[in-house]
Amino acid sequence: MFKNVKTKKVLSIFLLAITAMIFSSVAFSVESLRGDSALDSDANKPKKHKVATVSGGIERNYKLQPPMIPHKIDKYRISIKNNGCMKCHSEKAYKKEKATRVGESHYIARDGTKLDHLSSRRYFCTQCHVSQTGDSPLVENTYEGI
Ligand code: HEC
Ligand code: HEC
Repeated sequence: MFKNVKTKKVLSIFLLAITAMIFSSVAFSVESLRGDSALDSDANKPKKHKVATVSGGIERNYKLQPPMIPHKIDKYRISIKNNGCMKCHSEKAYKKEKATRVGESHYIARDGTKLDHLSSRRYFCTQCHVSQTGDSPLVENTYEGI
């Protein structure tokens, strides 16, 4: 088709360049949880999710599920000296604060003995209890509570 070898060469380089451009644009259109920003640039700021306040609490899916937190928790700190959650959820405070008292199980040590203080196994509340934002799930979930 092409008599001139030089033209052939130029054309094939051109085609290669176009292919490379198409491939790179495909690579950039892939979106991860980080968004579609390039690896060497800052990620887009994630949109803020409003924490849901659900009066009366959130229904459990099974009997021994740690109940989900039906309120905001960003102001409560859990440190070695102080557990902000216990200001309302402790035996002493729960009635006055109209909060739920922490479960009996939270006072039981690893060897089964009943303690007069919160068990260290249950100290870091947010290890098991989390607040919710009411967003729709990222993937379909067909789990049914028992
Ligand atoms: C200012 C008081 C207060 C503080 C501090 C507080 N809560 Fe609450 N919490 C409440 C009240 C009141 C409810 C009950 C809400 C309702 O049922 O309408 C509640 C409900 C809950 C529930 C649901 C209980 C159930 O049986 O459904 C969980 C779990 C919970 N809180 C965990 C936490 C955790 C973890 C922290 C600390 C990060 C915390 N709370 C800090 C007042 C508080
Ligand atoms: C290791 C996991 C774990 C940790 C840590 C934990 N919980 Fe729980 N929590 C549970 C589970 C499981 C239940 C439900 C069964 C039960 O009552 O033991 C529960 C129940 C509760 C309930 C409801 C009790 C009731 O009678 O309805 C409240 C309120 C609660 N937790 C608050 C807290 C607070 C506040 C902290 C931190 C001081 C905390 N939990 C730490 C697992 C945990």
